[in-house]
Amino acid sequence: MITFDKCSTFRGSITAPADKSITHRAIFVASLADGVSVINNPLLSRDTKATMEVVQQLGVNIVNERSRLLVHSDGYKNFKEPFGILDCDNSGTTARLLMGVLAPHSFHTCITGDGSLLRRPMDRVINPLNELGASIRGKKNNTMLPASIMDSHLKHGDIIGKVASAQVKSAILLAGAQIEGETSFTEVAPTRDHTERMLEAFGVKIKREGNKVTVIGGKEITQAKITVPGDFSSAAFFIGAGIIFEGSDITIEECGLNPSRIGLLKVLKDLGINVEYKITDASIEPKGSIYIKHGIINGGKVSGDIISSIIDELPILAMIGLFGKAPLEIRDAKELRVKECDRIEALVKNFRALGAEIEEFEDGLTIHPLRQEPVKARLLAFDDHRISMVNIILAKKFGINVMLDNIMSTDVSYPDFLSDLLSLEVK
Ligand code: S3P
Repeated sequence: MITFDKCSTFRGSITAPADKSITHRAIFVASLADGVSVINNPLLSRDTKATMEVVQQLGVNIVNERSRLLVHSDGYKNFKEPFGILDCDNSGTTARLLMGVLAPHSFHTCITGDGSLLRRPMDRVINPLNELGASIRGKKNNTMLPASIMDSHLKHGDIIGKVASAQVKSAILLAGAQIEGETSFTEVAPTRDHTERMLEAFGVKIKREGNKVTVIGGKEITQAKITVPGDFSSAAFFIGAGIIFEGSDITIEECGLNPSRIGLLKVLKDLGINVEYKITDASIEPKGSIYIKHGIINGGKVSGDIISSIIDELPILAMIGLFGKAPLEIRDAKELRVKECDRIEALVKNFRALGAEIEEFEDGLTIHPLRQEPVKARLLAFDDHRISMVNIILAKKFGINVMLDNIMSTDVSYPDFLSDLLSLEVK
């Protein structure tokens, strides 16, 4: 079991680590493009390494210069049939986007992943791609990995989404970019639009009408040079830490502020906390600084369409709820059950272990504020990076009264999380 010293507050400034979602997309789209693309400030984490490894098996060369990646590709029309199975490790984004990248190719590929990924639903991507004419077969009646992709006869078409998922939308757009004609995806609720922006940065034509996005595909895609901003979802852990520690004053710089990602700031405002931010660069992906100070949220209910734009921030929002004035109810968040772990179950178990009163629902939870400091609470990471980062913040809040089983999984999205957090610590 791991324990940490209690910290009194967090102060200072950090640069947000590079964005995971945007790095995945930059690698995939640069692989579709013909020429040498440059990706500045990529995230190098377990998840994005999985994406680099799978595209390299398609004949793409990646030179990792640490602060930038050089992606050498002959374009999607010249992908090679991989020799082995494509292992996506823990990364749902890699697996789902890869299916879209591979669906238009008639060579035979097989995709797999680690224990957590093998339990996650894949029919949400397999079914719409098969609707366009792909031939993807997944385990358990086409619902899970491992999956094989073969004998494709893809045609452009119009897909109506069934779940609010940026990964599903992205899979369709990445397939559509390689198919002659117009392919569209209509979303149930708005989700992050990084794939649309990335394809445009590489010269692919995209049209948007309300919740419908259309890609004009089949054209050659050419090399580009792009810069990855900081990851708002990683920065959110510092937003959470800043809010719950009295006296805190944190600045996060170079952070992505794409409107489709910063729903947490709106939710916090509705709950009574104003987190200020300033956009300093509004190019392909807007970025800037975020300023966080301690505050106590009012209680309330968070539900509806906003949920899909704060899906990765719900664990940290739930943690902020432990220190609120009144109960915080989070609903319409059933998707949390099929993330790297069942995040509703994980939060309920861990918060109850702290002594908090928690109500569990199929689609969410209600967090009643903690009434007293926990005594000898054991928090489990469930092999989930975002649960693990919440646990580390709680361990810094309560010192040796909180014990953690492990903190290894933070390397999935934020390998330097602990050192960045400790750099802001005031003892
Ligand atoms: C992601 C989309 C979200 C999110 C995940 C990353 C992406 O998943 O939870 O961490 O990069 O597109 P869904 O699309 O399944 O909601």
